[in-house]
Amino acid sequence: CNYLVEKTRGEIIDTLVEGLERLEYRGYDSTGIAIDGDEPDSIDIFREIGKVSSLKEQIKKANPNRDVTYLTHSGIAHTRWATHGQPKQVNCHPQRSDAENQFVIIHNGIITNFRELKTLLMNKGYTFESDTDTECIAKLFLHLYQTNLKSGHELDFHELSKLVLMELEGSYGLLCKSIHYPGEVIATRKGSPLLIGVKSEKKLKVDFVDVEFPDENAAQPETPMTINEPKVIKSSSLKSNKSDFHSKDGLMPIAANEFNLRHSQSRAFLSEDGAPNPIEFFISSDAASVIKYTKKVLFLEDDDIAHIYDGELHIHRSRKDVGGSMTRSIQTLELELAQIMKGPYKHFMQKEIYEQPESTYNTMRGRLDFDNNLVNLGGLQQFIPTIRRARRLIMIACGTSYHSCLATRAIFEEFSDLPVSIELASDFLDRKCPVFRDDVCVFVSQSGETADTMFALNYVMERGALTVGIVNTVGSSISRATNCGVHINAGPEIGVASTKAYTSQYIALVMFAVLLGEDRISKTERRKEIIQGLKLIPEQIKQVLKLEPRIKQLCENELSDQKSLLLLGRGYQFASALEGALKIKEISYMHSEGVLAGELKHGVLALVDEELPIIAFGTRDSLFPKVVSSIEQVTARKGHPIIICNENDEVWNKKKSENDKFITLEVPTTVDCLQGLINIIPLQLMSYWLASNKGIDVDFPRNLAKSVTVE
Ligand code: G6P
Repeated sequence: CNYLVEKTRGEIIDTLVEGLERLEYRGYDSTGIAIDGDEPDSIDIFREIGKVSSLKEQIKKANPNRDVTYLTHSGIAHTRWATHGQPKQVNCHPQRSDAENQFVIIHNGIITNFRELKTLLMNKGYTFESDTDTECIAKLFLHLYQTNLKSGHELDFHELSKLVLMELEGSYGLLCKSIHYPGEVIATRKGSPLLIGVKSEKKLKVDFVDVEFPDENAAQPETPMTINEPKVIKSSSLKSNKSDFHSKDGLMPIAANEFNLRHSQSRAFLSEDGAPNPIEFFISSDAASVIKYTKKVLFLEDDDIAHIYDGELHIHRSRKDVGGSMTRSIQTLELELAQIMKGPYKHFMQKEIYEQPESTYNTMRGRLDFDNNLVNLGGLQQFIPTIRRARRLIMIACGTSYHSCLATRAIFEEFSDLPVSIELASDFLDRKCPVFRDDVCVFVSQSGETADTMFALNYVMERGALTVGIVNTVGSSISRATNCGVHINAGPEIGVASTKAYTSQYIALVMFAVLLGEDRISKTERRKEIIQGLKLIPEQIKQVLKLEPRIKQLCENELSDQKSLLLLGRGYQFASALEGALKIKEISYMHSEGVLAGELKHGVLALVDEELPIIAFGTRDSLFPKVVSSIEQVTARKGHPIIICNENDEVWNKKKSENDKFITLEVPTTVDCLQGLINIIPLQLMSYWLASNKGIDVDFPRNLAKSVTVE
């Protein structure tokens, strides 16, 4: 936040901390803030791993003077959800350029060329204190500031930022604050969201002023230094004069809710009488932390550099424009807090279902080499030879996580040639299953806190087996206690019914299995097939999500009055049947049962009649003929199944033409062992709509908890 309103330091700290608390719903592992220090031109940083309450504790202990009053002040705050490495204090944001905190940065996203930048900066004498990519940005700010100063360029904060951004590759939503630019803040984004809330007591007018835009043909001022000096900065606005922004021409009253900004211009906010207006700016990646203070927000676009100082907001572009929107508008958020957190979705579960193209991609990001068909799992690599020599693999989990083990068991068997058993954690403990030192036990858990799984882990540790964690929550009990593991990087999951964690666990386990078989030449082609198949999964999930209107209609017309539902699958699709049935029962309260198609004739067939709805997984793999024969057993008893099948499958098309009660849902085709990633999506949507149509609170179904931390 940044103010041109008289505030005490205490009030500023409270605002920042409160903003962080509003983001608690996202899940995080560390927090931090930076504010102006006691000394003039100094910055204080407070940061802590764990919850916002731990940060509050730390600030309380440090006991900063809360009564200092500021007219212009800027403070920044961050919550971090680590995507790799243990959360530790030096890795918390704000990250700093040096011990004097000359430049402090908070950053969402990933700087992909940070290793190169780090090496370059280390060669120039900078020492790094964290493992983060963000620290590079802070040091880059300092380096470019100093080199330009030495050569006589006193750069505006936004001009300096432009030089820094020219060096960065990857994605970012970042804020920077500096002792050299007191009271100022830079906010810039590329691929990560950022919005600016504007709160003003008086009625605002906006003053349009031309900003000098990068013009390569214009005479260049003396060249400021970039990191790979000499490099030419493409700007003729180096000497921008802040007072220029107060031109009286073109004053435009702000309509009640919005006004448009041509983004090739800088802005100054003035009150109606032209006097500086007491104003507060709240910059955030998420409207949830801003809504309490103001509903008026402006969404930054990629490559925007917002520079805030003296109660003014100026938007610059970090690069010459290549098309794109020419307007920025201040919008009034009509949404309530809970709605903002859910975006356009009605429930977190629906949001999480729709996040899967992104979350599955995040699970694979940086881990698959699609050119050479190799897998790199940093947290496992050194243990792979030991795992290959194991007596057997035991996969242990509960609920949906157990189903991801079931879905990938065959691929582990295929690539490791080891006996693989899968265990429900509670049953594993009940049986006091024998475990030996040369066993490898894989614990799969979204939360990393499930008590049954944790107890099973303790049991295994006592017996000396190697333990592997496949966990979503970085820093959770299971991720800390296991010998090695993989974070699935699906992002926080809030809906009680697990959706995106399932697909990400599935992918993490497939990558693990493929890595185990990487030493076998005979598996080269299969490995290639799977890795290339994985590459397409996010896009294919996007495709299958388009079935939603059809599924919604099916739920309303065919399934809404039913009491019970059977799901049939075999081979790779047995897990889809069990997971689909679990989704339906846990949120729609409809009885549903996942059945191994091969077991149909051993009892379940007695349930089949004209009424009972049956969903069957009929996608192509080596077991396809057997699935067709199971379905024939169903239709022979007048059952009318809904088949999840590949697009344009002639067998099912023919059956459909012979029987008008036959329903198909066509999904994209992938490799046999990955097909479950696609096939589960229609079931997630179906469970969502069955529950939603009944008015059930989908995110919080009765009697269930997201994380079951008791036995
Ligand atoms: C609870 C949740 C399920 C989840 C299971 C295992 O029962 O309601 O959605 O699958 O716990 O949780 P974990 O965090 O260990 O994956």
